[in-house]
Amino acid sequence: MSEPQPQRSDRRVAVVTGAGQGIGYAIAAALAARGVQVVLTDRNAGTGEAAAKELGGVFLPLDVADPAAVAATADEVVRRFGQVDVLVNNAGIAHENDALEVTDEIWNRVLAVDLTGTFVACREFGRHMVGRRSGSIVNISSIAAFIGSNPEYHVAYDVAKAGVSQLARSLAVEWARHGVRVNAVAPGRTRTPILDTVGMDDPERMTQWIGQIPMGRLLEADEIAAAVVFVALDGSAMTGQTLLVDGGQIAQ
Ligand SMILES: NC(=O)c1ccc[n+]([C@@H]2O[C@H](COP(=O)([O-])OP(=O)(O)OC[C@H]3O[C@@H](n4cnc5c(N)ncnc54)[C@H](O)[C@@H]3O)[C@@H](O)[C@H]2O)c1
Repeated sequence: MSEPQPQRSDRRVAVVTGAGQGIGYAIAAALAARGVQVVLTDRNAGTGEAAAKELGGVFLPLDVADPAAVAATADEVVRRFGQVDVLVNNAGIAHENDALEVTDEIWNRVLAVDLTGTFVACREFGRHMVGRRSGSIVNISSIAAFIGSNPEYHVAYDVAKAGVSQLARSLAVEWARHGVRVNAVAPGRTRTPILDTVGMDDPERMTQWIGQIPMGRLLEADEIAAAVVFVALDGSAMTGQTLLVDGGQIAQ
């Protein structure tokens, strides 16, 4: 007897990595508000479970730096929902170190989560999208992909995010003929817990940051989420792009 086929969902299905808090949570909320079935994943089960409960989504624990777990999660989503329409690669970590103090361990960890984690998720979820000839991937990049950040330095993060934007270009070209779009959204400095790791509690640094942003304020997570939803669901002719949402920082 053949295996029962999973039921196809009548709602679009989106997977968001690192969705327990910050920008990932805001993206999951904005997708849910558009009627999308959201699968929230995070390595932190506490925040992830709570977020999924609040948003009426499903939580699956996932550390994106574990390739076997990423592949298993992609299979699990398809087994449960029959499809995956949208993947948002949002999980990421920051660091703050002068380049001469960046150890091999720091470099490898940041690249493993921010760049390799993003590629592996594109590959494992993309496998299902390419097979079904439909899908939309949004990778969360950063203004750090385009500039050397200051006053805080984080070369491993900058390089990882440049790679995330390049992944969108390379995969977009390769998968366009398979009906799969791949883009990136690059936020400027956004008020979330990640900024605590690079000095949000330092008033002098906050003044420097805001001075670098023509709009004169940090960005809010739901402003980034609105751009992600546009690119993921509405930008049907957009692929290979990185959309900057930075309050004008790069334009000056
Ligand atoms: N906040 C900003 O100013 C800013 C600016 C540019 C880009 N970004 C990017 O936006 C994304 C979200 O950042 P945020 O500000 O919401 O950060 P955050 O620290 O508030 O949230 C990150 C989430 O990712 C999860 N996570 C971290 N490592 C993970 C892993 N290995 N596997 C699975 N989940 C993991 C965390 O548990 C957390 O829930 C990141 O990719 C970040 O680089 C943020």
